[in-house]
Order: sequence, then structure tokens, then C-alpha cells
Amino acid sequence: MEKKDIDWGNLGFGYVHTDYRFVSNYKNGSWDEGVLTEDANIVLNECACVLQYAQTAFEGLKAYTTEDGRIVVFRPDLNGERMENSAARLKMPVYPKEKFVEAVKKVVKANEGYVPPYGSGATLYIRPYMFGSDPIIGVKPANEYQFRIFTTPVGPYFKGGAKPITVRISDFDRAAPHGTGHIKAGLNYAMSLYAIVDAHEKGFDENMYLDPGTRTKLEETGGANIIFITKDGKLVTPKSDSILPSITRRSLVQVAKDYLNMEVEEREVMLSELSDFAECGLCGTAAVISPVGKIVDHGKEICLPAGMEDMGPVTKKLYDTLTGIQMGRLEAPKGWVVEI
Ligand code: PLP
Ligand code: COI
Repeated sequence: MEKKDIDWGNLGFGYVHTDYRFVSNYKNGSWDEGVLTEDANIVLNECACVLQYAQTAFEGLKAYTTEDGRIVVFRPDLNGERMENSAARLKMPVYPKEKFVEAVKKVVKANEGYVPPYGSGATLYIRPYMFGSDPIIGVKPANEYQFRIFTTPVGPYFKGGAKPITVRISDFDRAAPHGTGHIKAGLNYAMSLYAIVDAHEKGFDENMYLDPGTRTKLEETGGANIIFITKDGKLVTPKSDSILPSITRRSLVQVAKDYLNMEVEEREVMLSELSDFAECGLCGTAAVISPVGKIVDHGKEICLPAGMEDMGPVTKKLYDTLTGIQMGRLEAPKGWVVEI
């Protein structure tokens, strides 16, 4: 398919209308087959459960053009599995992960012209989501649901791409103990909007959240997990029941061990440990790995030794290896790269 006339190199992380989206409806206890449609709009009753009680969850993954011109997606089965978990926790019907992967393939294929070319620095972001659609006024789950997937070509999530960013330790929480931090519920992101606007107004790029129970441990940011590199080259990443199990983070842990021979610690990370680390990065589908140069804890500046100019050397190795796998330059572990 002919590539669309888009200035790929200058895309930010925004919505671009593409030709097709996938839609499947759940009614009377089952999902229909689903179709591709050109209609990007949704008409809902004023009392739809999603509008009143935020019964919605979403996913995020990317399609890439490889060096040899294939179009691939990265570990879509894990997104499908996480969406199953999100749906179950929000009392929504599960959209089976096998059908999820098929639908992702269909919608990417239909929008092939929007998959950025190899080497452009852009990718096609894929956004699956599900919501309760029938009128609900007493607090209870909906009876009817819609599962949709749209795509949008995107550039870097943070302005400046690989330039290190500054984050602050947030006084707000994004999750509650025993709450919904571990699933990709829209409500978690609504909770973070006040905090992100406040952070930006005060000159910070993101919020680093603490564990909501004791506020002594580092958790994650509004849209990414965190990795640290110790001064002796170990990868350390927070383990917690209230963070989203990032597919990028889980992949990086494996890349660090199997490709780079690094030691990895997945454990609780105390706020008081911050000054022990040499490098820090935010990892996620949108963020890939965004290096953090400075963390501000209520006026106290923790400047990572890697500095504010470039990604730290170990973070760079992880970044190059992960993106090498995603773009087909390096051999992928079995099942990680799925061709369209
Ligand atoms: N944490 C949060 C809160 C997120 O929104 C995301 C994005 O999906 C991530 C972490 C990273 O997860 P993944 O690597 O699966 O994209
Ligand atoms: C992603 O990385 O896919 C995310 O969902 C992060 C953010 C855009 C919410």
C-alpha cells in the first residue's frame, strides 16, 4: 500500500485520523464478530455507564516497519492478556486475547499506509479500548459494551526524544492500596490529570509516584514504569502490586539478562535510595525508554550522574537492544515480534 504523505520525522505524540478502526459489540452475553469501519465517531446514550461511572480500560502497543520492510507488532499477546485482566477487574466481559491479536492485525493491515517507514523515528501507535455503553444510573456494571481499536502514527512521547527529562516526586497518588493501579483503567489516568498539569505548570516533565500505602517507596510515573542503573551496572526496577505491569519493563528485564548479561533486581525501591543510582529511565510503549536526568523531591535536586545531555551509557545499550529487536535488526526471542 502507498505510504500516506506525512512528515514522519516531525510527528509528536498526538492523534492523527487514520482510515479504519475495528469495532465489536457485546450484547445479550456475547461479542459479535467485529468489523472495520471508517466512522471514527461513537454515538452514546447520555447515561452510558462509561460516561457516568468511567467503566473503561485501554491498551497501547505499536507497529513498526523493520529494516527489511516488514510490518510487525511487539508482543500483542501480552497486551491482550493485560486487557483481559483489566476487563475482569472492572466487571467488563473479557475480549479473548486470541481475538484481540487478530483484531490488532486486521486494523494495522487496513491502515498500512500510516505505518511510518523504517528509520523515520516514528511508529504506528495502536489503541485498543473497551467501555460500558448502555444506560446505567444505579452503581453497577453495564450490560452492553463496545471494544474498539484505532491507530495513529506517533513520534516521541516526550518533546526532545532522547534528551533527559526532569521529574518530581508527586504529592498526589495515582493509585490506592488494593485499588486499580495494576490494571489499565481509564480512571487511573483521570486521577493523574491534575497532577500532570500541576507538574507542567511548575516546570517538570512528569510525576514520579510513591507507593500509596506508606509513601516511602518509588512506584512509577503517570504513563511509564521506572528503571534504574546502579553505579556498578545493575538494573533495578520497582516491584509493587499497585503499578502497571509494563510490557516494555518486562521485556527490558529479559533483554538485560539474556542479551547484555546484566544483573537484574526486581524489588521494592526506597525513595531514600535515589542518590545511589547512576542512571534512570522511564519505560513504556509510548515512552520507549526516556532518560531521566534530574529528580526533584520537594526542592531537593537529585542529579543523576548520567547528566542532562544524553541518555546514560547502560540505558543506551538497553534502548538500542530493545529497539533493535523491535525493528528487526536483532534476533527476537520467540513470539516477541508478530508479522502482519
Ligand atoms: N505504567 C503506566 C501507568 C502506563 O500507562 C504505561 C503504558 O502503557 C506503562 C506503565 C508502560 O506499559 P507498557 O510497557 O506495557 O506500555
Ligand atoms: C502507553 O505507553 O501505551 C501508554 O498508554 C502511556 C500513555 C500514553 C498513557
